[in-house]
Amino acid sequence: MKRLWICLMAMAAVITSCNKPQEDDSKQPAEMNKTEIVLEAIQTRVSVREFTGEKLTDEQIEQLLRAAMAAPSALNKQPWQFVVITNEELLKKIGEQMPNTRCQNKPGCAIVPCGDMTKTLDGQARDFWVNDLSAATENLLLAAHAMGLGAVWTGVHPNKDRVKEVQELLGLDENLVPLCIIPVGVPAEQPEVKQKFNEENIRYIK
Ligand SMILES: Cc1cc2nc3c(=O)[nH]c(=O)nc-3n(C[C@H](O)[C@H](O)[C@H](O)COP(=O)(O)O)c2cc1C
Repeated sequence: MKRLWICLMAMAAVITSCNKPQEDDSKQPAEMNKTEIVLEAIQTRVSVREFTGEKLTDEQIEQLLRAAMAAPSALNKQPWQFVVITNEELLKKIGEQMPNTRCQNKPGCAIVPCGDMTKTLDGQARDFWVNDLSAATENLLLAAHAMGLGAVWTGVHPNKDRVKEVQELLGLDENLVPLCIIPVGVPAEQPEVKQKFNEENIRYIK
């Protein structure tokens, strides 16, 4: 009798599980370990170009800048200066003059990573500043995403006209070369994440 009971219970469990709707196998953040959280953030980052207009707190801005400055740089030169724009009028002006920057779309602020030409390496190594600033920019984008904010890298350097335009708009001297403009804010859109993994772009040397 006991055996039959156990058998019935087991069958009931199987039937119940078969009837359950297909469960989403993505984990909730609380169930993830550190590695999974970091990889998930990298895989789900997406460019956000529309914002609610909500301001960022000083703490949020500092967190973004700390993430940016944690980036690697050649010989650890850290040849950068980050210009933080919170002035609404200036953001609007930048967006109207340079629509590609998305600053017209109500970001809470814009951060402009600039290469500081007085801090670069010499000779052929000078242009490593572009790599250094790119690493900082990606760190900042990932931090924004991890904080529930949206952001997008909008290109300035190496377009000479854009560099000049941004230097003029921000009153920068020519030693500061803006790599890009990153509007950051509370997302007003949720763009789909693009699937980019492509075996064809890999070559193994074993
Ligand atoms: C060097 C560079 C320049 C970019 N310039 C612009 C830009 O001027 N305006 C813009 O809206 N997005 C710009 N983007 C964002 C790309 O369009 C975006 O990263 C790409 O479409 C992939 O989409 P994802 O970031 O959502 O994965 C730029 C990205 C990079 C890396």
